[in-house]
Amino acid sequence: MKFLVLNGVNLNLTGRRERDVYGGESLDGINAELAAFAAAHGHEVDFFQSNLEGEICTAIQKAEGTYDGIILNAGAFSHYSYAIRDAIAAVKVPVAEVHMSNVHAREEFRHVSVLTEVCRGEVLGFGKHSYFLAMESFWL
Ligand code: DQA
Repeated sequence: MKFLVLNGVNLNLTGRRERDVYGGESLDGINAELAAFAAAHGHEVDFFQSNLEGEICTAIQKAEGTYDGIILNAGAFSHYSYAIRDAIAAVKVPVAEVHMSNVHAREEFRHVSVLTEVCRGEVLGFGKHSYFLAMESFWL
């Protein structure tokens, strides 16, 4: 299988921002581990991060026909982006929603994701491991 790991707004700061919440490892570091994890299981993975909502929508649109699954941490976009929600609903490629933190144990505005309903499933609260668990869900 071929996966796209898609990270939204502020995820490029992982390892530098709120380390108590998101850990001390950089996004590049996590992605390198994910690439090795996918390869070890005979799968391929590409990575894309953007702070721009429209670029995330475009990446989802373009994933159709190329990827078997998207692992998406949309960051704060998750809580309000109907555009990303519509992009997910518009394509057949299944999307696994990811959050590193336990959003339900945080501020109230984080308790709602407008994306979950159109995603295949959601993994949250396990730090960087949320990405690995979400990826694994596609072949388990
Ligand atoms: C996040 C949770 C979001 O609420 C937040 O805006 C993020 C990261 C997470 O991975 O826990 O940027 O998606």
